[in-house]
Formats: sequence, structure tokens, C-alpha cells
Amino acid sequence: MVDIVDLGQRPPVGVVPEKMHAFAVRQNRFGQPRDAWKREVLPVPSIKDDEVLIYVMATGINFNNVWAALGTPVDVIAERQKSLGEKEDFHAGGSDCSGIVWAIGKDVKNVKIGDPVVVHSGWWDKDDPWVKSGKDPMLADSTRIWGYQTNYGSYCQFARAQAHQCIPKPKNLTWEAAGCYLLCASTAYRMLMGWAPNIVEKDDLVLVWGAAGGLGSMALQITREMGGKPIAVVSEDSRKQFCMDKGAIGVINRKNFNHWGAMPNTSAPEYNDWVKGARAFGKAIWDIAGKGAAPRIVFEHPGETTLPTSMFVASTGGMIVICAGTSGYTITGDLRYHWMRQKRLQGSHLSNDEQAAAVTKLVAAGKVDPCLADRLFKFDEIAEAHQLMHDNKAPAGNMGVLVNATKAGEGVGI
Ligand SMILES: NC(=O)c1ccc[n+]([C@@H]2O[C@H](COP(=O)([O-])OP(=O)(O)OC[C@H]3O[C@@H](n4cnc5c(N)ncnc54)[C@H](OP(=O)(O)O)[C@@H]3O)[C@@H](O)[C@H]2O)c1
Repeated sequence: MVDIVDLGQRPPVGVVPEKMHAFAVRQNRFGQPRDAWKREVLPVPSIKDDEVLIYVMATGINFNNVWAALGTPVDVIAERQKSLGEKEDFHAGGSDCSGIVWAIGKDVKNVKIGDPVVVHSGWWDKDDPWVKSGKDPMLADSTRIWGYQTNYGSYCQFARAQAHQCIPKPKNLTWEAAGCYLLCASTAYRMLMGWAPNIVEKDDLVLVWGAAGGLGSMALQITREMGGKPIAVVSEDSRKQFCMDKGAIGVINRKNFNHWGAMPNTSAPEYNDWVKGARAFGKAIWDIAGKGAAPRIVFEHPGETTLPTSMFVASTGGMIVICAGTSGYTITGDLRYHWMRQKRLQGSHLSNDEQAAAVTKLVAAGKVDPCLADRLFKFDEIAEAHQLMHDNKAPAGNMGVLVNATKAGEGVGI
């Protein structure tokens, strides 16, 4: 019986130690990510018949575990104890990884021990009647985000996942590049390709907020690959070139405008100032795409501060598709533009197996770059990486962290 191994030290394939190194949050540490996330030694979890244990080579960093650190809007530990009946009083998170399958449950057929994989974070109960009926499992009541709403995610030396989450690792990528992209890429793919008839078609204009971020960098490239024309929005001119390199046909700096935030009441005098700001932003789109141009899809996640403008600038029959409320959860907007121009406001959340596989195919073919950020993080820098994200100081693209991979650049061809 192996008690614990150092990071990077491999027990014989299939031999599972009793304990492992992991990063976790506890309720008495909720707050700034730099203090909330701490390295601990935790038990390696047992797996159910449909689950796998992954020897994690590298992980990505996602905003969901900034929320987990803050303990808001949901206390993920209390919620899990209540709804899943789990006893653990910690959250060992992480929703993106590349690694090697190290153990499998008795019903697992799609992977075997030793397979190199990436893991997407759609998690659901296979016995959920909705899932059993064959409908989109992301709409099932039991659906959760792996490594955020479930324990033992990718900040663990050995992560626990459901077998269907595993996708063969793209051979063209290093462990760290393979481990950093899938949560954002699969979410962006569903947002852009999952809500027919509002999916990206040739020459469609797509407005992408936070375009140099994890989601945004994926959205730019997926739009380009589907024949669309992405327009990027950022807050720093230094982020512009990155967006152009990822396919943007033009970039808008949101700091050139000041009408952000909740929209004033339409009968208040301030409303006219808001309309001027929204029109000026629309003019910035025209300056890039031509007079009268309007995005057929607006790729949203800032939420409260930007949604009124997104609803204003979307084209007639266009869709605002949103997966977060980074700046706040309250919706305001001028409904007249919404119904008269027959726009669609669509919520979207992560992805199903097919969508995660479809975007990984684009990555494996070299068509979508995982956008591994320039700075590569060490395992002991997991807390700091979340703090940078919280402070909007993260490097462009997707942050990667070495877990059991000890050196950068390994894993290509595997
Ligand atoms: N539901 C899902 O399935 C799902 C999946 C992935 C992510 N998310 C959520 O989506 C959000 C973004 O995730 P991410 O990984 O892309 O994060 P990220 O890498 O930190 O990028 C977010 C970008 O948003 C922009 N931003 C921040 N505050 C803004 C504001 N007030 N107005 C406009 N833009 C603002 C920033 O760009 P500029 O400052 O350059 O504009 C930043 O680069 C997070 O809230 C995350 O939890 C949800």
C-alpha cells in the first residue's frame, strides 16, 4: 500500500496512494483567493462504478474557483453537504485538466487505465430521468460543474471524474496547454454553436466581451473558424494585438465609453445620456464593420454593466447569449429594442459531451489555439493565479498550472 507520493513521482500505473497533495478551500478561509486556497494533504477519493481517477498532469485556472474562494454567490461546501449528502468540509476544486487515467469503475467502457485524456466539466447523474431520456444532459436537474460544484477536481494530484467527461488528449499539445482550455472552449462553443438558429454562420458579426480573457479568446477563434467575423472588446490597448491575432476584425476599448452599469429608467433625464453612450458604442462597431452593421450574436459574460448595451446593439433577430454575471446579476435594458427587433436573450452554461468533443477536435486540428497564457504557474501558485483573475490582472488567455508534470513542454505526441 502506497501512502503518498511527491508531485511528479508516479506510483506504478493503476496503484492508487491513500493520500495526495491538493489545493482546497475551507469555510473559515472564505475571502480573497490568495488566502482561501491552501495546499493540503487529503485522502484520495474512492470512485463509483461510472467514475475514473485521473493522475493530473496539468490544470487550468477558472473563474468559478474565484467564486468558490469568496464563498459567494454560493457556499459550495455547504451546498454539496446539503444536496449531495457529502461529508467533506473542504472544497478541493479545479475544473480543467490533462492527465492519465489511473483507476476506473467497473462500468467504464470509454477509457482504460493509462489513457492520456483531457476532462470537460459537465457532470450529471446517469440515473436522472432527463439524462436517461437522451435529452441534452446540461438541462438536467442533476447537472453540476465538475471541480466547482463537485469535490476532488483538478487541483488534486488524483482527480475524480465521471468517465463520460474524458476526451482523448490532443496529441499536438503539451500537458499544460491541454490542461488549460477545455472549460472555456466548451462553454464558448455551446454559446456560439448550441442555440440554433442563432449559431455562427458565414460572415456573421459576433461581438465578444472580455475578448482577451479565457472565454473571449476561445470565442474569437471559434467564430473565425465557423466563418464569422468577431469584434473584440477589451479594457487595455495592450490587449488589442492578442485579439487581432486570434481572429478579431477589430477591437474596441470599453474605457473610451462611460455609460456602463445599470440602465437609467427610460423616463429619467439620465436615460438620454445612456442612449448617447450606447449609440457611440454602436458607432464604434460601424467604424470596424461598416455603417449599419450589427452583431448577430453578442457573446456576453460581464452581465450587469454591459447587458443593456448588448441588448441595444444586437441585430434584428440577433441573440445575446450569456453565461455569467461577472460585474453583477441585475438585468436592466430597454425592452422596446428587444421586442420590436425580435432579439433573443439566451442563458448558456458549460457544455455537453458532444460540444466538448467538437471544440477539442478543432484544437487537435490546430484550428483553435488553447491560448495558454505566457506565464506558466507552479502547483504552489494556485492561490496567486486565482487572485490575479479576481483582480482582472491575469495574463491574456488561459492560465495553466503544472501538477504532476514537473517540466514545461512535455506531453506532445502522447
Ligand atoms: N457558465 C459557464 O459555463 C461559464 C464558463 C466559463 C466562465 N464563466 C464565467 O464567465 C466569466 C468570464 O470568465 P473568463 O474565464 O473569461 O474570465 P477572465 O479570463 O478573467 O476574463 C474575463 C474578462 O472579462 C472582462 N471584464 C471584466 N469586468 C468587466 C466589465 N465590468 N465589463 C466588461 N468586461 C469586463 C475583462 O476583460 P477587459 O477588462 O479587457 O474588458 C476580462 O479579461 C466569469 O464570471 C466566469 O465565472 C461561466
